[in-house]
Amino acid sequence: MMAESRSDGRVALVTGGGGAIGRAIAVRLASVASAVAVVDLDLAAAAETVAAVEARGVKAIAIRADVSAEAEASGFVDTVERRLGPIGIFANNAGIEGVVASLDQYPVEMFDRVMQVNVRGIFLGLKFVLPRMRDRGRGVIINTASTSAIRGRAGLAAYVASKHAVLGLTRVAALELVGTAIRVNAVLPGPIESRMIRDLNRMAGADGDRLSRAGSAPYGRPEDVADVVALLASDQTRHVNGAAWVVDAGMTVA
Ligand SMILES: NC(=O)c1ccc[n+]([C@@H]2O[C@H](COP(=O)([O-])OP(=O)(O)OC[C@H]3O[C@@H](n4cnc5c(N)ncnc54)[C@H](O)[C@@H]3O)[C@@H](O)[C@H]2O)c1
Repeated sequence: MMAESRSDGRVALVTGGGGAIGRAIAVRLASVASAVAVVDLDLAAAAETVAAVEARGVKAIAIRADVSAEAEASGFVDTVERRLGPIGIFANNAGIEGVVASLDQYPVEMFDRVMQVNVRGIFLGLKFVLPRMRDRGRGVIINTASTSAIRGRAGLAAYVASKHAVLGLTRVAALELVGTAIRVNAVLPGPIESRMIRDLNRMAGADGDRLSRAGSAPYGRPEDVADVVALLASDQTRHVNGAAWVVDAGMTVA
């Protein structure tokens, strides 16, 4: 097995990098990447992540952008390559949870927004990063889906539909890259100790337990997801493409 090098010279890009999981991914990738770009709607949060990466002696930049806006998505990919160099690792991670409501009560505008960020955003990231990686013949992409990509959850119509779509996009991208050295995989976290899961529990009210504690598995930590992302970014997974790696301590098999 190849040892993980301190820096293999690759530039890492993390969207939603100001959030719990994105920050853990950015910090984890700082131990292998030469530089890390942090994209988020929330510039202050992205800047905090940049500080955490820089504290590890690695160059980092924060970019404010909406991943679901075409011009902004193509813009941040340009900016990262111009300022840091070719993107070698892309953690396509930004996502929102929407609200908890039964299908008939689910607000249409909220459904659209969740699909825009979680599906269109992931699609645009792939669309703009892939051709650059293809031109250079190398690169790895890890899309953040969720265990909601492979199971239903009452009250989460938009989120569940959007995460199923992330898995679909992952599979299409992987197939379009067969025969190249570029790989696209998805990581599927179960509930992770984070603002997102706390808000979902609050919205679910009395149903909170049913929503998030199906099965008896404990919540994970953002770092548990980041470690799997780093593994999928490494040559140790060179034969893994189009895969859906569940990170949930066994919750979905219960
Ligand atoms: N927290 C969990 O339990 C959990 C479980 C499974 C999957 N996930 C997924 O992991 C990813 C990260 O979640 P998290 O827990 O870190 O949530 P989070 O809310 O802490 O982080 C998400 C980040 O994305 C940013 N963001 C939102 N919309 C954006 C947009 N349009 N453009 C750019 N940035 C945007 C937010 O500002 C935030 O900083 C999401 O895709 C989420 O669906 C989370």
